[in-house]
Amino acid sequence: MASEDAPNPFDDPAADPFEIARVAAELIARRSGVERHDIALTLGSGWGRAADLIGETVATIPATDIPGFSRSAVPGHVGTIRSVLLPNGKHALVLGARTHYYEGHGVRRVVHGVRTAAATGASVMILTNGAGGIKETWGPGTPALISDHINLTAASPLEGATFIDLTDLYSQRLRDIAHEVDASLDEGVYVQFRGPHYETPAEVQMAKTIGGHIVGMSTALEAIAARQSGMEVLGMSLITNLAAGISPIPLSHSEVIEAGKTAEPVISDLLARIVERL
Ligand code: HPA
Repeated sequence: MASEDAPNPFDDPAADPFEIARVAAELIARRSGVERHDIALTLGSGWGRAADLIGETVATIPATDIPGFSRSAVPGHVGTIRSVLLPNGKHALVLGARTHYYEGHGVRRVVHGVRTAAATGASVMILTNGAGGIKETWGPGTPALISDHINLTAASPLEGATFIDLTDLYSQRLRDIAHEVDASLDEGVYVQFRGPHYETPAEVQMAKTIGGHIVGMSTALEAIAARQSGMEVLGMSLITNLAAGISPIPLSHSEVIEAGKTAEPVISDLLARIVERL
């Protein structure tokens, strides 16, 4: 099955990814009637309902209508881009489509959503995901804030001699706001593996040894691109399962999706209450 219908501008290696993002943002403004967005959210597995809770949807655009986006390769991911009017009058761009690095389309396409969000004017980027937990106290369905990351993909969205500081990449200010909403929210270091295979127990032990608490396949590369674009980043993981070897039970994708569905109302409400305060 083809992963997309129309030619993708990223197929041209000479294309400027920031120009593609600018064109995408222009079309989002035209289709939504919203000239500038203030915040953006990427909703990963289990977080989809937040789009309905944070405000009033003013436009829903199929992601494949916007240059550079492709059809989601993952069941359970919604391929739409929404413009949502928040109760405080701000505009949120909700990206229900995410391209993962493991899809093999290159990092430019992985971070296109983030760069497009920045080009629409968003200064805050909320990145959510479903992930495996290393802390044994985290049962499936536990949300956790990302305090930092370790990028094990051996890739970067930055090209050439682009040196970007990643100290405080996951904004302390935004984490404080999240803690005001729910003081019990735990934090952890997110370790991004390439995937799409889940980690081996030995890899999970390595992640733990080097300081990781969460294992996943998405957010670190996106966070780096968000920082490059000058956005403040809030990262949140839904722990859908204990990571391989932490739990004696083998992982299955359908169980990961199921855990996401069960936790969805609670974590989406949590996210909506955080967004309300931004
Ligand atoms: N590892 C990596 N990614 C994941 C996991 C996991 O255990 N669970 C959900 N996404």
